[in-house]
Amino acid sequence: MKILMVCLGNICRSPLAEGILKSKLSPDMFVVDSAGTSNYHIGQFPDSRSIQIAKRHTIDISNQRGRQFKISDFDTYDVIYAMDTSNYQYLKGKARTNVDQNKIKLILTEMDNMPTRDVPDPYYSGVDGFLEVFELLDVVCDNIAAKLISNNT
Ligand code: 4NP
Repeated sequence: MKILMVCLGNICRSPLAEGILKSKLSPDMFVVDSAGTSNYHIGQFPDSRSIQIAKRHTIDISNQRGRQFKISDFDTYDVIYAMDTSNYQYLKGKARTNVDQNKIKLILTEMDNMPTRDVPDPYYSGVDGFLEVFELLDVVCDNIAAKLISNNT
């Protein structure tokens, strides 16, 4: 089972989503990766604020590098989670088939009491924004991991 996390820059939200979900799953059974819809930060490390907040929770995301979403990701991944509505719409616009379409999900729809549709973009916020993003992603990734594990056993 392969899961892709997608945001705009692939330096703030989706690297955290990747690291958090990976920390909850066995690497023998699940592949988790992330990508950005933009080409702004290709080859770059995650934002230092994302690296720090992950590290505080004993998750190391410092080995990740930014990359841009590519059409072949629809073939490689089983589920593609968009961090917000704008990235969701972008992915929907790139889908070639119904099979592609059905792989795309807005990540917070996996939360029981979805507090907001979008994982807020923390790029221009302070450290508090990154803490909020971490907490949202930690809760939603618990649900995603539980669902994936129960479907795989
Ligand atoms: P991300 O955050 O999509 O969570 O990685 C952003 C990173 C960079 C930019 C916007 C959002 N930017 O405009 O450069």
